[in-house]
Amino acid sequence: MGKDSLTITDNRTGKTYDVPIENETISAMSLRQIKAKPDDFGLMTYDPAFTNTASCKSRITYIDGDKGILRYRGYPIEQLAEKSSYLETAYLLVKGELPKPSHLKAFAHNITFHTMIHENIKKFIDGFHHDAHPMGILVGTVGALSTFYPDAKRIFDTESRRVQTHRLIAKMPTLAAFAYRHSIGMPYAYPDNDLSYTGNFLSMLFKMTELKYHPNPVLERALDVLFILHADHEQNCSTNAMRSVGSSHVDPYSAIAAATAALYGPLHGGANEAVIRMLMEIGDIKNIPAYIKRVKGGEVRLMGFGHRIYKNYDPRAKIIKQIADQVFEVTRRNSLLDIALELERIALADEYFISKKLYPNVDFYSGIIYQAMGFPMDMFPVLFAIPRTAGWLAQWAEMLLDEDQKIARPRQVYLGPAVRDYVPIEARTE
Ligand SMILES: CC(C)(COP(=O)(O)OP(=O)(O)OC[C@H]1O[C@@H](n2cnc3c(N)ncnc32)[C@H](O)[C@@H]1OP(=O)(O)O)[C@@H](O)C(=O)NCCC(=O)NCCS
Repeated sequence: MGKDSLTITDNRTGKTYDVPIENETISAMSLRQIKAKPDDFGLMTYDPAFTNTASCKSRITYIDGDKGILRYRGYPIEQLAEKSSYLETAYLLVKGELPKPSHLKAFAHNITFHTMIHENIKKFIDGFHHDAHPMGILVGTVGALSTFYPDAKRIFDTESRRVQTHRLIAKMPTLAAFAYRHSIGMPYAYPDNDLSYTGNFLSMLFKMTELKYHPNPVLERALDVLFILHADHEQNCSTNAMRSVGSSHVDPYSAIAAATAALYGPLHGGANEAVIRMLMEIGDIKNIPAYIKRVKGGEVRLMGFGHRIYKNYDPRAKIIKQIADQVFEVTRRNSLLDIALELERIALADEYFISKKLYPNVDFYSGIIYQAMGFPMDMFPVLFAIPRTAGWLAQWAEMLLDEDQKIARPRQVYLGPAVRDYVPIEARTE
């Protein structure tokens, strides 16, 4: 065996095994040969929540959590946030390269062309209760889109995948905006194809009686940057759901519904709402030390802090903090910002947070900005799902074309009862 290998000794048998190391990884299947008795199943790894298991090889997003690095297809997130647009970034994610000018124009045209949704979708949305959570409406309606596009089942047809990708990136803002308008009892505002991706989304959300909605360019750009920051994040919970559900070869609308549902959970896409609720609960800078004491006592968590992967300042949080200043010049300053800034200052100097490497994550400031822009809290996870659609689709296509992939089907360690005979109900004592 060469140097790039691992030698394992099974102390039960005294046998040694050489396992190849590739990309700093060993194949879990290479452990299957390790058996104490010939009829053993062979060794498995136990890794609930996949904390140390690579479920795929990917060429899309790179994260170095210790250094606080995030790159899409090799491009640093800071450069994309400063120089790119969301649609260009979406193109980069799904196609692998930055577009040539004519390709970006064609991509933007295709997305714009697909923003309308079938009128029957409005009927579903009308059927939801008046105070239905827009994320619940989004999960339902995006899944329902699969029934409108039976061609989406042809997942190994490149052209079909291309069309569904355009449709999904284009229609998610429309579904989201309609869900929002339903929740506030306003008539739906149809897409305006003259506007940018985020400009059109703002128009569908906030257009009143004016003939044409003119988005504020600062808010339009801020939302575009927030969309860039949320476009992908490698194998997070919702992306894992997208890949796992997609591995059954279901159509992409159904898989996106599953990914959106995963994003609905408070530990994933719901954390920025939890941050706002926490900041409102703290209420005043003078109450921060008492709150930190509760966090350190294990009574509550400091929402917007900590990350499974980042053990450093989340690079997206840094960019969002800069956008906040630009947004607050247009909107009124969100009073919760002062509490957040002071909370961050205290936490970053406190041994509890330092030793556990707990830093602000993307959600710590995003909710404050969304709130200042006029979004209700229910819309926060929706604002995450729209841009993440590009990442989900990129990961889904990569999974489909990866020859290593099969239907996702983890193993388990069975600890339940051994075989036992059924006891008839009459024979069971109370
Ligand atoms: C994101 C998160 C779920 C990651 O969790 P994880 O990787 O499973 O980390 P753990 O829950 O194992 O936490 C590790 C340690 O840090 C502590 N910790 C983690 N996040 C914390 C937080 N936000 N506040 C206080 N303590 C925290 C845990 O209590 C644990 O301490 P222990 O080792 O003494 O038991 C977690 O940090 C969290 O709940 N953060 C708040 C919610 C949030 O902002 N989510 C958005 C993520 S983008």
